[in-house]
Amino acid sequence: MNIAVIGTGYVGLVSGVCYAELGNHVICVDKEKDKIRVLQEGGIPIYEPGLKQLADHNRELGRLQFTFDTLEAVRQSDVVIIAVGTPPGPRGEADLQYIEAAAREIGDAMNGYKVVVVKSTVPVGTNEKVQQIVRSRTDQVFDIASVPEFLREGSAVRDTLYPDRIVIGAESPQAVELLKQLHQSLTPEIIVTDIRSAEMIKYASNAFLATKISFINEIANICEKVGADVTEVATGMGLDHRIGPHFLQAGIGYGGSCFPKDTKALIQIAGNADYDFKLLKSVVEVNRQQRFGIIDKLIATIGPMQRMEGKKVGVWGLAFKPDTDDVREAPALDIVQTLIEHGAIPKVYDPVAMDNFRSVLDHPSIHWCRSALEAAEEAEAICLLTEWKEFKQTDFKAVEQVMLRPLLIDGRNIFGPQHFKDTQFLYYSVGRPAFGQGHGAMQTLMG
Ligand code: UDX
Repeated sequence: MNIAVIGTGYVGLVSGVCYAELGNHVICVDKEKDKIRVLQEGGIPIYEPGLKQLADHNRELGRLQFTFDTLEAVRQSDVVIIAVGTPPGPRGEADLQYIEAAAREIGDAMNGYKVVVVKSTVPVGTNEKVQQIVRSRTDQVFDIASVPEFLREGSAVRDTLYPDRIVIGAESPQAVELLKQLHQSLTPEIIVTDIRSAEMIKYASNAFLATKISFINEIANICEKVGADVTEVATGMGLDHRIGPHFLQAGIGYGGSCFPKDTKALIQIAGNADYDFKLLKSVVEVNRQQRFGIIDKLIATIGPMQRMEGKKVGVWGLAFKPDTDDVREAPALDIVQTLIEHGAIPKVYDPVAMDNFRSVLDHPSIHWCRSALEAAEEAEAICLLTEWKEFKQTDFKAVEQVMLRPLLIDGRNIFGPQHFKDTQFLYYSVGRPAFGQGHGAMQTLMG
């Protein structure tokens, strides 16, 4: 099939490369000329494991091209996929200006039957709007379909090539047939729904996963108060098939480009329909507060925030999760900002997200470190905010040597007691008893 993908952000680029890998001829389009130039020259503007190799392979086979000429790309295609951004507007609602602009251009380029697929996450009813815009600009016959994307950053290629399910929201048999053909080699789990339900499936899935995270985080907070261990609790809960083991990892909460945006957008969608989505509002609020649990633990151990003045605090991990350089809505942003506000000196290190973090939050008191060990030097505490693999392999005997006080506050629960048994470390995590040498501090925390 000939496919045009409009928008080369995460979803568009990964989808485009993966559709090419399935044997289709794909043209990816973007308005940002610099981005397209990078792609044309063989670069990949995002950090995503495996994506470059797959893109190179398909480029060599002549199945993958990049252009900023939307009209030409659409003219050459049977399927046109809209994968542009839907950033949050002032009240959390999805801003549809890029979707609408893409629809206008598609309408102007129509030269025969095409299926227009919306992959961007859009409020219920948006596909119909796209249909109206395209129809207002052409007499050609076309169909519209919603095929939401469920890929995760860091495992985007795998998630796209081996999805749990494909959702096709389409009402024309011709479009359904074409899209089934396009996706049939990926999974037998293809569900066909009406367009509005497909749009809702995406929001409902993300909102449910966010709810699971905020739920386990609140359980973790209670575990801390009653002396239980949330990792044991999550294991015990997850063995019930109705609950399942995934997304029950307690920590400092979710970030990224999807959960924060989509939860707020769904609250807004519900509100527009006169429905107060109370549960999801709480999920968002719990997530906002959860990241500050790290600061509470610092206060419990080092002392009140006014005593932070001039103190160095190592910050391990800035990306919102491992295997990505994405810092959008990352808990690290709020945590580092709070440290700065209290006069502390954050010594930050991330294996790949340093530049992105600096472009959002740059401040003279931040020390930009080249290694985890450097970030620990002369620090009063280390806050671990992203569960990068390299942190799991830390030699804590070496780290202990360079710190002023061997204190680790682990926002992602990646270690067990055995890691610290030959050290002086005091270790705090989320929803689990503290362990290590400083039992006095542990008492403080347990209240
Ligand atoms: C998410 C959805 O998983 C994906 O289906 C959708 O298409 C886009 O949004 P992504 O944001 O890339 O993907 O990352 P994901 O792995 O889902 O993690 C999201 C956030 O939740 C991260 O900040 C992660 O640290 C956090 N998380 C995840 C937890 O805190 N606990 C968990 O158990 C799982």
